[in-house]
Amino acid sequence: MSGGPDDSAAGAAEAAFSADDLALGERVFTQDWMFLKSVPALEHLPEADRAEIAFAGRSNVGKSTLINAVVGKKGLARASNTPGRTQELNYFRATNLNPSFYIVDMPGYGYAKAPKSLVEAWTRLVRDYLRGRPTLARVILLIDARHGIKTVDKGIMDLLDEAAVSYQCVLTKADKISERALSHVVADTLKGIERHAAAFPEVLATSSETGLGIGELRARIARIVTDRG
Ligand code: GTP
Ligand code: MG
Repeated sequence: MSGGPDDSAAGAAEAAFSADDLALGERVFTQDWMFLKSVPALEHLPEADRAEIAFAGRSNVGKSTLINAVVGKKGLARASNTPGRTQELNYFRATNLNPSFYIVDMPGYGYAKAPKSLVEAWTRLVRDYLRGRPTLARVILLIDARHGIKTVDKGIMDLLDEAAVSYQCVLTKADKISERALSHVVADTLKGIERHAAAFPEVLATSSETGLGIGELRARIARIVTDRG
């Protein structure tokens, strides 16, 4: 990439990763990833014996789709046009990975039209999980690139700050806006995390449609699970 002004969103991501990081990310995610289990309540969580990376965010932001893009398997996490598709914590793992770690697809929050009882159940599950999982190495907090950080996202960010759970914002659906608009939303999001104690100071822009930022996100996750941030 040229690194010109219009490349700043992808450029910011590029600068942070060495060729080795990107290669490690590739290696981790060309493994055979598979579904492990669906967790409707905390008592069904797998043993906390390895790191996990959870994908969180508003309903329909693109969590399941991004997981599929990262692991390179289209149908693995169930994605849908219907908000509220993912209702449990869904665990994924790869064979032959050392160190082994889990990827967790979370139910979305902030879907106003969902029945109240369901919203309450998900909210409880999401909050209890985010607060109480000792092996949660980082929450990938997805933000729709068209909308930026919303009030509901701030609620989750506050909760993660309080619980001292490391998280980072990743923009989704970057293909839906211009590069110029994207660099603005990256800058705004960086500003939005400034005073958040547990926020990792990086904002990656991704598109599951075009593949933008997928290599960088893979590299970031590979770094986290090998204890290098
Ligand atoms: P819940 O499970 O309901 O919380 O939703 P989710 O966050 O898992 O969203 P999901 O992955 O199901 O995607 C929602 C919709 O957004 C689907 O129609 C996807 O095809 C679409 N989508 C996801 N990522 C992208 C992207 O990067 N670009 C575009 N254009 N569409 C996307
Ligand atoms: Mg989903």
